Amino acid sequence: MPCYALKANYNPTLLKLIAQNGLGADVVSGGELYFARRAGIAPEKIVFAGVGKSEAEIGQAIQLKIHSLNIESESELRVIEKVAQRLNKRVTVAVRVNPDIDAETHPYISTGLHSNKFGVTRETAINLLQRAAKHPFIDPGGIHVHIGSQIDHKEPYIETAHYLLDMHAELEHLGINIHFIDLGGGIGINYNNQLDEAENKVTYISNILPALLKPFKNKKIKILIELGRSIIGSAGFLVTRVIYIKNTPQKKFIIVDAAMNNLLRPSLYQAYHQILPLRNDHTMIEKADVVGPVCESSDFLAKGRELPVVNEGDFLVVTGAGAYGQALASAYNLRPAIPEYLVDGENIDVIFAGDTVESIADRYKW
Ligand code: LLP
Repeated sequence: MPCYALKANYNPTLLKLIAQNGLGADVVSGGELYFARRAGIAPEKIVFAGVGKSEAEIGQAIQLKIHSLNIESESELRVIEKVAQRLNKRVTVAVRVNPDIDAETHPYISTGLHSNKFGVTRETAINLLQRAAKHPFIDPGGIHVHIGSQIDHKEPYIETAHYLLDMHAELEHLGINIHFIDLGGGIGINYNNQLDEAENKVTYISNILPALLKPFKNKKIKILIELGRSIIGSAGFLVTRVIYIKNTPQKKFIIVDAAMNNLLRPSLYQAYHQILPLRNDHTMIEKADVVGPVCESSDFLAKGRELPVVNEGDFLVVTGAGAYGQALASAYNLRPAIPEYLVDGENIDVIFAGDTVESIADRYKW
């Protein structure tokens, strides 16, 4: 069962399209659970992950009878037991195992190592499933794993798949018959060249996903997968206007009207996003830093980037902004959220109106 990870982009219009295509949802908060339900995703297709679910969020999930809660600690299991008992409702859980496998991605988005806060060791996972099996309201349904994000090669996934199969066999041996394995997400997109990717249909997902699923072929177990970026990342572009060109003795700065509050990925993960002029009239290439108006030196979209010569007033397109773009945005420097448009052939639809300074101001006591 493919589940869409709402954290990548939770625009309701897109969620509805995703729901219509039959996908379930991977949520990590009561807010995402609300959006998933309201967009029409059935509770039995929703999985709830995260290391710090509150008692209230656990209660909402149990009341809704979602597919499963992915538990990440003994303390969390204790709360789930208590809430299920109080509500007198059964709940299916999966224990998130941390396989100590290196996804070889940016350290901030690597999650499958023992040094990360996520999941529990294999030994603890087995103990927790054994404990859950004894509880009258808990179904120890599965095991869950998520080793990281923006992973561009299949090897860590194949290693994870074999690790899980081995663990599944061990659980069977111990008399615990789980009925699903949740493989998490993390398949990357090719940020270096989004346009070629669309043309050639060469994507990491078409390379990685079959290799990940293959070890489970002929096994009688339900497989779940939680994908965010590989579904929505390539669908979004950030369009920005050049405000000023600034030449210094050191370098050239292209100052644009989008900033780290709109697309945080370059500042936070040193992430590369392809940038192209909307109209490419120039053949001459120059090297420049593309920066925003926010008062931080960490506010940049690209550093030392070779770009066709652009002028003040020109538009630039930042590709691969569909995932973790607006979702990570803030109003820092009191810069209101920008609108989102859905482009379908000739049709352009406003699917998020954005904020204004006044709409932000109205949320405060003055
Ligand atoms: N499942 C779990 C348990 C996760 O923690 C995540 C992402 C996903 C699924 C979906 O991962 P995806 O398929 O989108 O890689 N803000 C960062 C990425 C953080 C990912 C957090 N967890 C970035 O912009 O690169």
